[in-house]
Amino acid sequence: MKRGFIKRSTSWLIAAISAGAIMSSAIYVVYFKQDPKEYAKLGVGRKDGAIADSASLARQSAEPIIPVTKPTNLDPKKVELGRTLFHDPRLSKDGNVSCASCHDLERGGVDGLSRSVGVGGKEGEINAPSVYNSALMFRQFWDGRAKNLTEQVNGPITNPLEMATSWEEILPKLNADRETVKAFNDIYGRRPNEKDAIDAIVEFERSLITPSRFDRWLLGDNAAIDEKELRGYELFVRHGCAACHQGEAIGGNLFQRFGVAKEYYDGSRKVEQADLGRYNVTGREEDRYVFKVPTLRNVALSAPYFHDASAETLYEAVDKMGAYQLGVALPAEDTQDIALFLRALTGEDLQ
Ligand code: HEC
Ligand code: HEC
Repeated sequence: MKRGFIKRSTSWLIAAISAGAIMSSAIYVVYFKQDPKEYAKLGVGRKDGAIADSASLARQSAEPIIPVTKPTNLDPKKVELGRTLFHDPRLSKDGNVSCASCHDLERGGVDGLSRSVGVGGKEGEINAPSVYNSALMFRQFWDGRAKNLTEQVNGPITNPLEMATSWEEILPKLNADRETVKAFNDIYGRRPNEKDAIDAIVEFERSLITPSRFDRWLLGDNAAIDEKELRGYELFVRHGCAACHQGEAIGGNLFQRFGVAKEYYDGSRKVEQADLGRYNVTGREEDRYVFKVPTLRNVALSAPYFHDASAETLYEAVDKMGAYQLGVALPAEDTQDIALFLRALTGEDLQ
C-alpha cells in the first residue's frame, strides 16, 4: 500500500511537472519565440538593408526582446506638423504648456520630475512616462485607459492639471495663424480641425522609435554591447525580468500587479487614487495596483522611476523589482550589471 502511494504520488508529481513544463514552453513560444522566416520576410536586417544572416536570425528567435528599427512608412509632412503641434503651447489654456513641457525630447521624453507641472503650476498625480516608443504599446497610460495614441491625445488637453483646454478653444488660435493654416491645407486639404491635428500628433509620435546598441546586438553585431552589459542581459532573462519586460518595447504589452512576490502596499505607505492603477478603469478587485508594464527602452534617461516616482535611481528600481516582482534579493553586482544592460537600451540618436 505504501508503495502504491509513493507510486501514485510520484506519477502525480511527474504529471504536475510535465504540465508545468508544457505550460512554460507554451508561454515561451507565445511570448518569446519569433519565427525567423517572418523576420526575413520583413527584411529586418542591418543598416545596409541586407537581410540578417542566419546567426543573427537564430539569436532573434531565441531572445525575449524583439529588435526595433526606425519606421519608414510615415508621411514626413505629417510628422513635421505633428512635431510643431507637440511643441505648441497654444494647445494649453494659458499658452504656457505644450506636450513637450512634460515630454521633453531632449531628456528622454520625460520631465525628470516626480509629478508633472501643468497650467498655472498645478501638480499632476502620477509620474510622466516617456513618449518615445509609446507607439509600440498595446494601451496608453499607466492604467491603460486609452486604447491607442489617437485616443490618448485628448487626455492631457482636457486634464485640468495639465493643459486644461478644449479644441473649441484651441482651433480659433490655430485658424488665426496663416502658417499653421497653410500647413494643414497642404497635407489635409482643409483648415485646422481636431481630427487632423490629432492625426499629425500621432504620426509624429510614431516616428519616436529609438533603436539602441542592444538592438544591433540582437541583429548580430557582437561588438555592440560589452561583457558586463551582456552579463546584465543574461541575468535579466535568468531572474525572470523578461517575463514581464519583453517584446518590441521591452514592456508595454501586459498589465501586471505592482507587488507580485511581495506586497508593495503593505500599510507602510499611503495609498493615493492613482496607486489603484487599472482598478480605476475596471473597478475589479483583481485590478487593484495593476499597471501597464512600462517600456525599459531609454529607461536610463527617465528617473525617477515607477508610477509614484518612488525610486530615484535605476539601481534602486532594479533592486525593488527583484524584491517585489520576483521575490529575490539581488546581489549588488547583479543589480549593477542589470542596470548597465538597461543603459544599453538608450536610443543611439538620443545619446
Ligand atoms: C502637464 C504634463 C503633461 C502634458 C502637458 C502632457 N503630458 Fe502626456 N503624460 C503626462 C503624464 C503625467 C502621463 C501619465 C498619465 C497617466 O498614466 O495617468 C502622460 C502620458 C502620456 C502618454 C502615454 C504614455 C504611456 O506610456 O502610457 C502619451 C503618449 C502622452 N502622454 C503624450 C502626450 C501628448 C501628445 C501631449 C500633448 C497633447 C501630452 N502628453 C501632454 C504628462 C503630460
Ligand atoms: C511580474 C512582472 C514584472 C517583473 C517580473 C519585473 N517587472 Fe519591472 N515593472 C513591472 C511593472 C508592473 C512596473 C511598473 C510598476 C509601477 O510603477 O507601478 C515595472 C517597472 C519597472 C521599472 C521602472 C520603469 C519606469 O519607467 O518607471 C524598471 C526599471 C523595471 N521594472 C525593471 C525590472 C527588472 C530589472 C526586473 C527584473 C529584476 C523587473 N523589472 C521585473 C513589472 C515587472
